[in-house]
Amino acid sequence: MKVLVTGGAGLVGSYSCIFFAKQGHEVIAVDNFMRGKIFDESGSTSGNADMLRKHFSNIKFHEIDIRDTEKLKPLIKGSDIIIHTAAQPSHPKSIEIPLEDFSINAYGTLNLLELTKKHADNAIFVFTSTNKVYGENPNRLRITEKETRYDYAEINGVDESMPLDNTMHTPFGVSKVAADLYCQEYAHLYGLKTGIFRLGCITGPMAKAVELHNWEPYFVKANIEGKTLNIYGFKGKQVRDVIDARDLVLAFEEFIKKPRAGEAYNMGGGRKNSISLLESFKIIESITGKPMKHMMKEAREGDHQVYISDLSKFKSHYPKWGIRIYLEEIFTDLYNSFTDKSFFEGMLKSEFE
Ligand SMILES: NC(=O)c1ccc[n+]([C@@H]2O[C@H](COP(=O)([O-])OP(=O)(O)OC[C@H]3O[C@@H](n4cnc5c(N)ncnc54)[C@H](O)[C@@H]3O)[C@@H](O)[C@H]2O)c1
Repeated sequence: MKVLVTGGAGLVGSYSCIFFAKQGHEVIAVDNFMRGKIFDESGSTSGNADMLRKHFSNIKFHEIDIRDTEKLKPLIKGSDIIIHTAAQPSHPKSIEIPLEDFSINAYGTLNLLELTKKHADNAIFVFTSTNKVYGENPNRLRITEKETRYDYAEINGVDESMPLDNTMHTPFGVSKVAADLYCQEYAHLYGLKTGIFRLGCITGPMAKAVELHNWEPYFVKANIEGKTLNIYGFKGKQVRDVIDARDLVLAFEEFIKKPRAGEAYNMGGGRKNSISLLESFKIIESITGKPMKHMMKEAREGDHQVYISDLSKFKSHYPKWGIRIYLEEIFTDLYNSFTDKSFFEGMLKSEFE
């Protein structure tokens, strides 16, 4: 099969490439490596592309912008599966660059959908949306305060009935709402087999962490380097649900085996993989043996006080899927990825076997 992965050098994109390459498929990875420009060189994903090129002869990288219709056309033609992960991925960054954010996230996605409709209308199209489509609505849920975390007072997690509008989103949340709805629309109106994954916090060793994106590896790296972290609001008790990108790719696989066109799914680590920032300090300290250093700052726009995905809808449609990688292993893997030179070699060999 021909699998096209946009953002193929990024965190989710690179694990998607590895997964399909290991299954023996022809993988076309599209990435213009602009992550290093959106943030800075420390956030560049080009090293991931070099690693994948070296290890897999069936992954071909194309340095192309997802907004470039003419260059994408021949690549999309005949694709069986499209995994669309390319994005401006940071909500605080989007406040500085709303036009670029819209152009990549909203227009770029529409461009891909239109190309898919014209040149690969039977392809299964997986879109990586975000929980930020719900804007600040999750902050209106009744919350209780516990010793090390906030939590929902009345629900286990956020399901897909959470409203999308009448709230502040940041430009990133808005551009992703547009893309999310376009993906649904192309299923309803044109019959494309789109699946929309509204993601919580995705992590994994292929993440190129910067302060504004991928907090888990950023925290681990800061601890190793003895750096002081900024914690934005909520006394460090804000809660996130963390999913390893490898578990996410296995969820994509389930959807691809039996696509339900136009469905949107909340997808993250769920309650078992939920953690507050303060609680993450404890895990990281126990792995590295070094104290976390942090200072409290004002809360940022668009941050959730507590976000835990309710995974019931996805699990009811795809009962074979479940979380395999839990928090202790996630943070240990991140630590090893920074400290063990042979880590990536081993990971590329053993992953998805
Ligand atoms: N990582 C998370 O916690 C998280 C949470 C919610 C949603 N998501 C979504 O999941 C997707 C993947 O996230 P990620 O963490 O892997 O992101 P990432 O930043 O690691 O990877 C994105 C890749 O897309 C590339 N890219 C950006 N603009 C491009 C363009 N115009 N043309 C071609 N390539 C371009 C970047 O160079 C980068 O390699 C994104 O759509 C993101 O919004 C991620």
